[in-house]
Amino acid sequence: MNELPGMWEEADLSGGESDNAVKPKMPDIEDFRYPASYPKAHYGSTDERGYERALRQYYKDLSEYYEACAAQAMKFSRTWAMPNHDTFSVKPIGEFVQRYMEKSVCSIDPFARNKDWATYTNDLNPETTAQYHMDAEMFLHGLADSKVKADLVLFDPPYSPRQISECYKSIGMEVGMKETQSALLYKRVRDALMPVLAPGAIVLSFGWNTVGMGKGRGFELIEIMLCCHGGAHNDTICIAEKKK
Ligand SMILES: C[S@@+](CC[C@H](N)C(=O)[O-])C[C@H]1O[C@@H](n2cnc3c(N)ncnc32)[C@H](O)[C@@H]1O
Repeated sequence: MNELPGMWEEADLSGGESDNAVKPKMPDIEDFRYPASYPKAHYGSTDERGYERALRQYYKDLSEYYEACAAQAMKFSRTWAMPNHDTFSVKPIGEFVQRYMEKSVCSIDPFARNKDWATYTNDLNPETTAQYHMDAEMFLHGLADSKVKADLVLFDPPYSPRQISECYKSIGMEVGMKETQSALLYKRVRDALMPVLAPGAIVLSFGWNTVGMGKGRGFELIEIMLCCHGGAHNDTICIAEKKK
């Protein structure tokens, strides 16, 4: 007799008879709309005992089906930590980044500040320890010209027009409406990333939304982690996308 999950383990539904039930196919999601009718319809049972046997098999298939779904599902989690100006210094966020860095051989961080984790680091602010101090888009054009292909990108820009404005003003740059539009900054930097990505590359994005590289650029969302900071703080939303 087959092993049964959970509550079915103790039940003796065989009646000592040979198992003639039709071997079912993997349950289809459509079938679960009518679970009560599913066993009879799909396991070819006619009498009551056969029906019980079919029902038992049905729950076994269902349990395996859910396990298969869970294995394929996008990873989603929520964690808590104190906020920090240096995003990756927030412990669970740093761990999120390091988990992907472990398998990386060539990575790019266009908004690195003082984090030297990536192979190529850049930050507009010359007082940071990044290798390059350029606008992120120009930095990426330079890497593309040098034929760099990265398997991992850390995309952690200023999160709002106010943060962009503060950053530009702090290094004495003129800022107008156009420069402080975060959507514009994100778009031009994401577009500039495309030529420097190896097939199957991962892009980790941090901020207050889940827009990321997106399907339009051929990316699949594989993980979301929310980091709650308590009080009235916005969560930091961390996403991982894979280039198809
Ligand atoms: C959120 S911080 C990055 C923090 C960093 N990931 C960490 O964990 O410490 C964003 C950085 O982007 C830099 N930045 C802002 N606008 C930029 C631009 N157009 N190009 C390059 N860097 C820029 C800022 O100077 C700032 O250090």
